[in-house]
Amino acid sequence: MTKRGAVLENRKKLDASFQVERYRRDFPILSQKVYGKPLAYLDNAATTQKPKSVIDMLNRYYSFENANIHRGIHYLSQQATDAYDEARQTIQKFLNAREAREIIFVRGTTEGINLVAQSYGHTFLKSGDEILITAMEHHSNIVPWQILSDQIGAKLRVAPINDNGELILEEFEKLVNERTKFVAVTHISNALGTMNPVKRLVQMAHQLNIPVLVDGAQAVPHTVVDIQDLGCDFFVFSGHKIFGPTGIGILYGKAELLEKMPPYQGGGDMISSVRFEKTTYNKLPFKFEAGTPHIAGVIGLGAAIEYVNQIGLKNIFEYEQELLHYATSVLMKIPGLRIMGQAREKASIISFVFDDIHAHDIGTILDQQGVAIRAGHHCAMPLMERLGVPATARASFAFYNTKEEVDRLVQAIHAVLEVFG
Ligand code: ALA
Repeated sequence: MTKRGAVLENRKKLDASFQVERYRRDFPILSQKVYGKPLAYLDNAATTQKPKSVIDMLNRYYSFENANIHRGIHYLSQQATDAYDEARQTIQKFLNAREAREIIFVRGTTEGINLVAQSYGHTFLKSGDEILITAMEHHSNIVPWQILSDQIGAKLRVAPINDNGELILEEFEKLVNERTKFVAVTHISNALGTMNPVKRLVQMAHQLNIPVLVDGAQAVPHTVVDIQDLGCDFFVFSGHKIFGPTGIGILYGKAELLEKMPPYQGGGDMISSVRFEKTTYNKLPFKFEAGTPHIAGVIGLGAAIEYVNQIGLKNIFEYEQELLHYATSVLMKIPGLRIMGQAREKASIISFVFDDIHAHDIGTILDQQGVAIRAGHHCAMPLMERLGVPATARASFAFYNTKEEVDRLVQAIHAVLEVFG
């Protein structure tokens, strides 16, 4: 079969099993009207909407199962503990991590990166060491490393990108040297949609035994992630970007590294015994889960991952790629619109600008048409500086978005152009 034939064949299979209208019905919020117009929610890189199965799970937990975990001996506490532990296993399988104890519950991507910077970084890095990031990082993968660098006298190095918004691999490789002691890179850029070749980056760093953290916040809702295949040492993501609750996220770490790292926070659950003279810490993963965790969030995230598993990330990726190509082609026809970030490998995120119209004005007029996008620097101010713009307008698509919604985006942008002449 020719390549094109294979693509069409694949598409037919997707058509049969992928039913966007059915999935949309799983998300109550999507059938709302705003300002009397149907909502086109195109701000999924900021946060995703929640399917009924997640909402029901949270409702059920608080209605019938609420109790603290790992503490009580009563029925409800056992129920809550079992559900919490099961969610950890669901996430382990989802990432294809070797062991459930490598999955640590944190508040989100940001907390996961801060944990690694302060626990691993503060213990194993020293003055003069270099930490390598890229020019397309979110603030949450810049600032924790700056704080650490200030504390210990380490140096932050930044791998550059080209004008298409792609990492320049030769430059990255040159920056990996014997002074580099940590690499932290985003899997998918939240502002440009660029998909980085993280497996290759990990291989480059591992040649010099440098540990690598991957910021997977924008990766997990769009593409299959296989931790063992990527080979990274740490991987972080947020529940709310993958159709789960806010305030819960995951830090994956290789067990041998997590074992060596000191706790990030002290308190209940992370201890084995406490005496005023000396405290000993609990085993993994509890060593890094001080205090009562976001139990409902964990259980809700488990439900979200199960929901995604039912549709299948391969199907989601195929569908979103088609939506991305459609949206790119129709947006490019709009006079004066420039797409920022034209990487060959891209997720369904499109940032765009007009020379004479501020992104916030675009966002405001689109909002009045019922089209929700994000406008601003997207928590990536150094990237905006590199692109030479103060801000962009960003439409970010999930698997529940449709071509009709893309058409509404285009119509709404024409309304912007009318206002601004
Ligand atoms: N990081 C989120 C975004 O890209 C908030 O919008």
